[in-house]
Amino acid sequence: MDMKQIIAKAIADAALECFEGCSLTCEEIAAMLELPPDKKMGDFALPCFRLAKTLRKGPPMIAAALAPKCACETIDHVEVVGGYLNIFLSRSCLAKNIVEAVLANPGRWGSSTVGEGKTVCLDYSSINIAKRFHIGHLSTTMIGHALKRIYDFNGYKTVGINHLGDWGSQFGKMVAAYKLWGNREEVERGGVQAMVDLYVRFHAEAEKDPSLDDLGRSWFKKIEDGDAEALEIFSWFKAVTLKDTQRVYDLLGVSFDSYNGEAFYNDKMEPVVAELREKNLLVESQGAQVVNLDSYNMPPALVLRSDGATLYITRDLAAAFYRHNEYKFDKCLYVVAYQQNLHFKQLFKILDLMGHGDWSKGMEHVAFGMVSYEGRALSTREGFVVYLEDLLNKAIEKAREIIEEKSPNLPNKDEVARQIGVGAVVYFDLHNDRIKDIDFCWDRALSFEGETGPYVQYTHARCCSVLRKAEAASMTMENADFSGMTDDEALDVLMLIARFPEIVRKAMDANEPSMITRHTTSLAQAYNKYYFEHRIMDENDAAGTAARLALTSAVRDVIKTGLYLIGVEAPERM
Ligand code: ARG
Repeated sequence: MDMKQIIAKAIADAALECFEGCSLTCEEIAAMLELPPDKKMGDFALPCFRLAKTLRKGPPMIAAALAPKCACETIDHVEVVGGYLNIFLSRSCLAKNIVEAVLANPGRWGSSTVGEGKTVCLDYSSINIAKRFHIGHLSTTMIGHALKRIYDFNGYKTVGINHLGDWGSQFGKMVAAYKLWGNREEVERGGVQAMVDLYVRFHAEAEKDPSLDDLGRSWFKKIEDGDAEALEIFSWFKAVTLKDTQRVYDLLGVSFDSYNGEAFYNDKMEPVVAELREKNLLVESQGAQVVNLDSYNMPPALVLRSDGATLYITRDLAAAFYRHNEYKFDKCLYVVAYQQNLHFKQLFKILDLMGHGDWSKGMEHVAFGMVSYEGRALSTREGFVVYLEDLLNKAIEKAREIIEEKSPNLPNKDEVARQIGVGAVVYFDLHNDRIKDIDFCWDRALSFEGETGPYVQYTHARCCSVLRKAEAASMTMENADFSGMTDDEALDVLMLIARFPEIVRKAMDANEPSMITRHTTSLAQAYNKYYFEHRIMDENDAAGTAARLALTSAVRDVIKTGLYLIGVEAPERM
């Protein structure tokens, strides 16, 4: 039971005693409890005006009546200030309660079962075939991955979907280029980059010889018609891309439940188009079929080109139906850059107009901002791209240098360098509100100070080290006595742990992993402050030492969970 619940129960009992026939539940009261802006106003406050209506009494009267009856082990004392009941916790009791609750269920503090029986589809990463994975793809991949873990942690069934960009006329050109100039070994060896080179060459040569465009079109037609050779080459392109990308996913620890992408919906769009037509939602515009969205202040959505070709949104419509039927999702999240705002607004509106609002209302565009690199905007046109794999490898290399310098005797340096390097990049990406643009900067990402991944990881390793030393000195957490744990530093740590479950829930409701990143960072900061001002191990005070070790162990556990939820590993030594 968390703190709030304990206090809510004390208040509910008091209310029952003071007000006849009062039927306030603990949950209702827990929901009303606030965190005062200043500790002088208590650790929690109950704004009694929210009870005035139910109890038909003035707020100050309610507060005054409840005050003398709110006694419980956890509450040290209460004060009535106007219509507020300010609650001051018994610090040692708080410490004992929270620490024991965390340690009772390692790795599960903040988890819940709110999602039990419900399913969330998460569409993230969703890479394009024959394009290299650059740092612009980091956010979709990591926000999606973090959200998947957060929903899992709350009992949801989750389905991670990599909605591959594997359809479009450009693939006809690529096959054409391959047939003209490509060779199998080169592509196998060079991977995606070899395909990109072929594509670039195709464009350059097509400028001189426009007949190449017809050749490209005819190869695309072959792919569409299921020609064996065309399909073989094309699906091999796909396999090579996925193999290349897998290296990055392995570094990041990211995986998917489905790789059904655009091509998967080739044979699933007809019924959707038929339904749109039947419901009179399609109108002709210059030979093409569009859904008019004038009344919703949006440009028309192009569903079928004049030659009958389908589009990105046509495939997304089919994908929505497929996911609804296949997974019966309660939520379907699209972790895609804000540049596609309009696309998703159109998509959701069309489903609504088709009369599927009952389930399409569970669909949400989880938008995020752009990434620049050391102050410079990425631009394919200007040839300024930073590939994700290069970035991660460089981060690992730099982390390795730091380790050599700071802890040359560390065992498994390679493993830790990977954890720190990759962790620094991921943390950096998930530190700010997702909608904000971010500028990736090495010095800030890899610093061991400030709000960085390495800083939080280091705090975790510090906790591990304290506990290792204690073990070596045969000091245990047994018979802990928390009565001395009443200082402000410990209280800060404890309150941050106590609020962790609420933050996890909020992060989930807002699809905002950064809330967990920042809260976990605050916890690390608070613990470091505690660590510097208090001696943890004291041979003359075994019971007090046990309490401080237990607190350290709880901090270690919660930091590890926080990092886990945002997809960052927590090394035990660094
Ligand atoms: N492949 C697309 C792109 O790179 C993103 C796909 C997002 N998912 C979706 N269902 N539309 O822009």
